[in-house]
Amino acid sequence: MSEFFEARNITKHFNKKLILNDVSFTVNKGELMSIIGPSGCGKTTLLRMMIGLETADSGRMYLEGQDITDLHPSKRNMGIVFQNYSLFENMNVLENVAYPLRNKRKISKEESVKQALELLEMVKLTDEQKKYPAQLSGGQRQRVAIIRTLALQPDIILFDEPMSALDANIRLTLQKELKALQKRTHTTMCYVTHDVEEAYLLSDRIMIIDEGVIQQLDTPTNIFVNPANDFVREFVNGHILDKMESLESVVPHV
Ligand SMILES: Nc1ncnc2c1ncn2[C@@H]1O[C@H](COP(=O)(O)OP(=O)(O)OP(=O)(O)O)[C@@H](O)[C@H]1O
Ligand SMILES: [Mg+2]
Repeated sequence: MSEFFEARNITKHFNKKLILNDVSFTVNKGELMSIIGPSGCGKTTLLRMMIGLETADSGRMYLEGQDITDLHPSKRNMGIVFQNYSLFENMNVLENVAYPLRNKRKISKEESVKQALELLEMVKLTDEQKKYPAQLSGGQRQRVAIIRTLALQPDIILFDEPMSALDANIRLTLQKELKALQKRTHTTMCYVTHDVEEAYLLSDRIMIIDEGVIQQLDTPTNIFVNPANDFVREFVNGHILDKMESLESVVPHV
C-alpha cells in the first residue's frame, strides 16, 4: 500500500475554541481508515475539511502528491456519505444510481443503466430497482446511497456515521457488505463512527482523536493490544472486550 492522502499540520478553531491541534496523518491507497473519538472531538469537522466543505486555519492537504488545500469540493474527486441518506426522492432506485453516472461521468444512458444494475446486484437490491426511496427501509436507502457514491469512482469516499440510524442486525449485514465492496473495488475510505466495534470490524487502521490530537493511529489489533495511552485503553476496552468472541468469526485480523 502506498501513501495516498496526506493531511499535514491541520489546525482548526471554532469561535476561538481549539478543535484540531496540528493534526497530521496519511491514508494509504485502498485502505479503510476509521476515525473515532468522543462526541465533539472534531471528527465531522475533519471530514468536512478533507472534502473541502470547511477550511482549516492552517495546514495543508494532499491527494496523490497534489496540494488540494485550496481546491473547491467539486474539483476534488471525493465522495461523502452521511447518516441521513440524501437520495433523489423523485427518482426510482435504478435512476438514483444511474443518473449521477450519466451526469457526472458523462456515459451513455444504456451504459449507466448497465453499471447501476451491476452495483444494485452487489448489494442485493435488484428487486427494488423500480421502487422510490420513500418505499425503502433505512438499510436499503443507505445501500443505495453507498453504491451511488461508489459508482462515481471517487479517489476517496468519506463516511460520517452512515449506519448510526440503523438497527443492530441491519448494521452488521451492511458492514459486511461495505467491507466486501471496498475490497472488491479497492476504494480508499475514511469512516467516522462513534461505534468502536464497527471501527474494529471494518478498518485496516483506526484513528482515535481526543483533545484536538490523534491519540493513536494504528491497526485494530494494535489499538486493542497495545493502546498508546490510558485514554485509548479506556476508550476501546469498555466497548470491545466482551465482544471479542463474536468478532473473531467475522474479522480475520483478530
Ligand atoms: N460550524 C460550526 N460553528 C461553530 N462550532 C462548530 C461548528 N461545527 C462544529 N463546531 C464545534 O466543533 C466541535 C467539533 O464538532 P464536530 O461536529 O466535528 O464533532 P464530532 O466529533 O463530529 O462529534 P459527534 O460525534 O457528536 O458527531 C464541537 O465542539 C462543535 O460544537
Ligand atoms: Mg460528527
